[in-house]
Amino acid sequence: MFGWRWLSGLTLSLVSLLAVATGVAFIVSIASLQERPPDVPYVPTPYEVVREMLKVARVGPNDIVYDLGCGDGRIVITAIKEFRAKRGVGVDIDPQRIRESNENAQKAGVTDRVRFLQQDLFQTDIGEATVITLYLLPSVNLRLRPKLFRECRPGTRIVSHDFDMGEWEADRTLRVRGPYREHTVYYWVLPAGVAGTWRWSVSTPQGERRYALRLRQRFQKVSGEVAADGQATPITNAQLVGTHLRFTVIREIEGQKVTMRFSGQVSGDTVRGTVTIQGGPFAGKREWVAKRDPVNLEGTWRWQGGALRIDRRNGAWTATYLQGDRRTLISDFYVWGAGIYLTVENGGTVTAEGVVDGNRLTGTWDGKPWVAIRAKD
Ligand SMILES: C[S@@+](CC[C@H](N)C(=O)[O-])C[C@H]1O[C@@H](n2cnc3c(N)ncnc32)[C@H](O)[C@@H]1O
Repeated sequence: MFGWRWLSGLTLSLVSLLAVATGVAFIVSIASLQERPPDVPYVPTPYEVVREMLKVARVGPNDIVYDLGCGDGRIVITAIKEFRAKRGVGVDIDPQRIRESNENAQKAGVTDRVRFLQQDLFQTDIGEATVITLYLLPSVNLRLRPKLFRECRPGTRIVSHDFDMGEWEADRTLRVRGPYREHTVYYWVLPAGVAGTWRWSVSTPQGERRYALRLRQRFQKVSGEVAADGQATPITNAQLVGTHLRFTVIREIEGQKVTMRFSGQVSGDTVRGTVTIQGGPFAGKREWVAKRDPVNLEGTWRWQGGALRIDRRNGAWTATYLQGDRRTLISDFYVWGAGIYLTVENGGTVTAEGVVDGNRLTGTWDGKPWVAIRAKD
């Protein structure tokens, strides 16, 4: 399930080491009366790799860096000392690690800009972080993934040593030579939610030309089409980096090939930027502002195979899969504008994604076409 095949032999041996050490850490943790055993044992990231992790995230004076499972505090301390980050927060469940982190911060003279918290990283409020660093395990990264999307702002940079995030592909992957082996560094920028229908219009001598852009989204991967004058054209080269959306539309206007390159910043239900047009009667660069159609995701969505209940409570989305009398709360659930994405255990892992338009949800469930209708309840 976690794509173990890609792990190199060396990484596999690290994973075995981590597994053995987890057992040891369990016993040690009982001895030190931690709130619960760590999900991952302590293995420090070599400094060469720490520096590459902070470099790929371009850590600088505006950044608040969180290391979830901070060990001896080396990542946040290096972020302050060498990358001039504004502040750093390290979280570790093991009190021994927190003691070491505080001692190291003292030695480095950075105590005024770092905080070390002894707590379970799954309970930590991470909303203020601009950069999050991780050296956990593939399964722990996957458990953390929905929390990152729930709590962090779009544009937050995330760096993980050695382990990926499953279907959320990294924006960049680096190999870094350490003292004993080659390490892998994964880097992501948390994408904004852009799924849904975006509309704008352009004044032409023939009158107002109305455009509708329908976007689907899976993490930072975006696809869709632009419709105008009854003609729909797929978008190409779509790229979503944090809140920055770009895509290209190539179509024929009045018998001429026209290439339109859109680039804008997404803020809630507005995208604002420019379109550069090559060819055709409107060539040039102009302002582009589009608004997303309002959408309501809440309710019970029914199809032949079951139903999905979506609610929003205290600002957080929840989803429950209903099958006969069985109700499964879906922990791996994401909302991206008008789009949803989830994985659920149902005799194997099932992945589903869809976009809501009015009372209709269309997408795929376990790779097959999926249409659900909102029940009138
Ligand atoms: C592999 S070490 C990484 C240490 C540090 N980030 C580094 O890269 O040098 C993982 C750390 O996560 C901590 N840890 C494991 N599970 C945790 C949890 N649920 N909450 C907080 N810390 C945890 C462990 O105590 C350990 O120090």
